[in-house]
Amino acid sequence: MEIIYTRNLCFSYKGEGDRIIRALDNINLTVKRGEFVAILGPNGSGKSTLARHLNALLLPGEGEVWVDGMSTRDESSRWQIRQTAGMVFQNPDNQIVATTVEEDVAFGPENLGLPSPEIRQRVDQALRLVGMSAYRQHAPHLLSGGQKQRVAIAGVIAMRPKCLILDEPTAMLDPRGRREVLETLQRLNREEGITVLLITHFMDEAVAADRVIILHEGRLLLEGTPAEVFLKQDWLRAIGLDVPPVVELAGELRAAGLNIPPDVLTVDRLVDLLCC
Ligand SMILES: Nc1ncnc2c1ncn2[C@@H]1O[C@H](COP(=O)(O)OP(=O)(O)OP(=O)(O)O)[C@@H](O)[C@H]1O
Ligand SMILES: [Mg+2]
Repeated sequence: MEIIYTRNLCFSYKGEGDRIIRALDNINLTVKRGEFVAILGPNGSGKSTLARHLNALLLPGEGEVWVDGMSTRDESSRWQIRQTAGMVFQNPDNQIVATTVEEDVAFGPENLGLPSPEIRQRVDQALRLVGMSAYRQHAPHLLSGGQKQRVAIAGVIAMRPKCLILDEPTAMLDPRGRREVLETLQRLNREEGITVLLITHFMDEAVAADRVIILHEGRLLLEGTPAEVFLKQDWLRAIGLDVPPVVELAGELRAAGLNIPPDVLTVDRLVDLLCC
């Protein structure tokens, strides 16, 4: 059963003068419950515009978007849609609102008007799920980028969404912070069954996904498993995307005559193959 479904989704911005910028062109996307989907695409390909449609921050110019069976056009469903699909953005500093970690995570549930014991329970659980329980009394602005972003994710998780939509959540982080956030997302997906839509510029983050979707000039050009998508190295380069370095190396070794299967997407797997 799908949790997100778009049909013939089109959206244009009004640019300067009378210029129309077609940001999304006939997007048909289905995301199943529990899936981990990575959305890739060059700058300006429409990734953020698509993300904003998936929790009704933007409404379709044409076509329709359904979230857990609710159309974003239906005004009476919007609050429920935003509860179902939680958004995380690039800059954790813009998402932090309180002076301690636990107050920050409690902010959303408090706004729901939940009783205190329920709020405390949600905050405890959310902090545990992102591995930040030990920091509950800390000041968010003193944390590392990766820790701040995990607190921002906890704040969304405390609202008990079925689906997380993350728009380049690791773009401002160092490699360690990126790893922390990616591992957190994988855990939430695997252990809590939360559907994850991860928009990223980092090809190696897409390797962890069940499915990869490529946007280009507002169109959904390609979708498949990471192995299927990253096999099309030349095609990806032509639209301005790289493949993960290990996939590139595997391709070169294959071209040099080594028997490297197409599903080699991680360094560990390549090392295993070469050392056996
Ligand atoms: N508020 C806006 N007003 C006008 N045009 C916009 C606006 N936001 C985005 N656009 C244009 O719409 C297109 C899609 O933009 P979008 O931000 O969705 O792309 P993106 O894939 O998220 O890019 P990036 O990788 O840079 O984040 C681009 O041509 C962009 O310039
Ligand atoms: Mg963007």
